[in-house]
Amino acid sequence: MTAPQAIALQVNGERVEAHVLPRINLADFLREHLKLTGTHVGCEHGVCGACTVRVNGEIVRSCLMLAVQANEAVVETIEGLSDSGEISDLQEAFRARNALQCGYCTPAMLITAQELLKVEAEPDRDQIREHLSGNYCRCTGYQAIVDAVEATAKARKNKAPRNRDAGRAP
Ligand code: FES
Ligand code: FES
Repeated sequence: MTAPQAIALQVNGERVEAHVLPRINLADFLREHLKLTGTHVGCEHGVCGACTVRVNGEIVRSCLMLAVQANEAVVETIEGLSDSGEISDLQEAFRARNALQCGYCTPAMLITAQELLKVEAEPDRDQIREHLSGNYCRCTGYQAIVDAVEATAKARKNKAPRNRDAGRAP
């Protein structure tokens, strides 16, 4: 049997050191070793998107990445994004618009939507659908999810000018 390997990484701002078997994927490592069960596992083949997390600032499917490949990486999960408040408005919009039912797809959907909103201030509905097309939802029919992302984009855009103006001379 292959021996466990030592890895060290940052997860949600905290340094983590562990010994893992080379075959353990990042999703299982997060869920089983670190008990970060907000990262869900659906297909385990890179199709459904339920296991989406951020690694070094980019979203990845953690079922397709080995834990040993995350050595020295910076990993952010839904727990980290929630605790920091980064997506609190997006979470509130999902709640307000009933954009989740069973909730299985929701953590990954939020992480993926946030990725879009970081680079595109006012995405149209087609852009939102396209960006979320790799994340499957078996409950909602997607309409309410697109509504929530669109509403969050508009709310953030309305906030932005006030923030910019705040530092300006009259
Ligand atoms: Fe990773 Fe489906 S569980 S993409
Ligand atoms: Fe159930 Fe999306 S809310 S899979």
